Amino acid sequence: MKKPWSGRFHEETDKFVEEFTESVSFDKELAEYDIEQDIAHVKTLLKAKVLDDEEANKLIRELSKIREEVKKGEFEWKKELEDVHMNIEAELIKRLGDIGRKLHTARSRNDQVATDVKLFLKGEIKEIQRFLKELRKSLVRIAENTVDLVMPAYTHLQKAQPIRVAHYFLAYREVFIKDDERLSDLYRRLDELPLGSGAVAGVDFPLERFFTAKELNFNKLTRNSIYATAERDFILEFLFVAALIGQHLSRLAEDLIIWNTEEFGFVELPDKLCTGSSIMPQKKNPDVLEIIRGKTGRLYGNLIALLTVMKGLPMAYNRDMQEDKEPLFDSIRNLKNMIKGMQLILNGLTLKEQVMKRASGNFLLITDLANYLVEKGIPFRTAHHIAGSIVAYLVEKGKKLEDLTLEELKQFSEKFEKDVFGILTPEKSTDRKRVFGGTAREEVLRRIEVAKLEEGL
Ligand code: ARG
Repeated sequence: MKKPWSGRFHEETDKFVEEFTESVSFDKELAEYDIEQDIAHVKTLLKAKVLDDEEANKLIRELSKIREEVKKGEFEWKKELEDVHMNIEAELIKRLGDIGRKLHTARSRNDQVATDVKLFLKGEIKEIQRFLKELRKSLVRIAENTVDLVMPAYTHLQKAQPIRVAHYFLAYREVFIKDDERLSDLYRRLDELPLGSGAVAGVDFPLERFFTAKELNFNKLTRNSIYATAERDFILEFLFVAALIGQHLSRLAEDLIIWNTEEFGFVELPDKLCTGSSIMPQKKNPDVLEIIRGKTGRLYGNLIALLTVMKGLPMAYNRDMQEDKEPLFDSIRNLKNMIKGMQLILNGLTLKEQVMKRASGNFLLITDLANYLVEKGIPFRTAHHIAGSIVAYLVEKGKKLEDLTLEELKQFSEKFEKDVFGILTPEKSTDRKRVFGGTAREEVLRRIEVAKLEEGL
């Protein structure tokens, strides 16, 4: 098959080379955006008087037809035509002859592909932000129902202090708010139109780039044609944020996997979201969470892959950069499924209130004992030491904090009075953390009110 660029060639492209270098098998995903761009380019060429009205109308009409065919899956993609751009252009030429041959005036695939990917990614970022919002809503709904439920907070995966369960889930809401901000941030940076940069040096015809930007809903123009065609920073930034969101989902998944063990027993997952074992009949495995955790690996891999592709490329465009698309598509597809999967899990989660509460007493309240002494005038370090000796004493005697009598306590400090027993419950412990951002009931309730407003609940 004759290539659009075949003028200077004397022989047909080697079959292997065609197979090896093609990208249409995956970049056809950009077809919708390629056509949107083509139409805007036609309008710009009309303004620049490269095309007349009739030519522009014919091109737009044919491009719209092709768009419908692509949507219906009727468009025939040919690997011999390399990529999505040349497939669409070749089809236009087949249908319109010389008029079709005018479309690529004042454009290169180098500015074209950067524009396509930006258009595509802008839409995907908005969609991922919608997914994240739904996830945050689920977190807030759980928080609303768990203000009066206590659980242990862990540091070093060792029981640390009691918290309100709502406080835990609101922590993840904060995480996903920051991720949302990161996406908005990179969106703003990538929202610059590359078209008009040509292959590397700009284009010869008087294109009104501001007009094209408006047509394609770009906020700004790229300001240097070399930069515009050579960089993939916007994809890298996105892949990083995707990897980071993956990390966040993975950590949440890990907590839930641990909580779901028989040893913890804090949560139960619905049957329909678990799978069994082919050999051990008793098993009910949290595979969705494990897959979320596992897929985070490929999100990291995609970032590292493209970072490595870009490293050491001479300015400006190099064909290596075609390797940007598969990691990008893969990260987007998987990230969306990971968020969706996590949302299903959260919506189906049963919290075992009694188990969580039972786990929240005893030594988790030792810090409260120390703070009690501080309030009675003992310096914190001394109080910490006294409380530590009480732990050692209890461990030695095989007793729990609740078992202590006032006489026993008095052996450690004269400052202990009867009122000490009033403070030693997980709920009271949380309520003393009234500091802004703390886990006291009133503070958590306040955060939930704000969260509901912000999430539109
Ligand atoms: N398929 C190519 C890519 O994705 C399009 C740009 C090709 N440019 C070129 N001069 N061969 O990067």
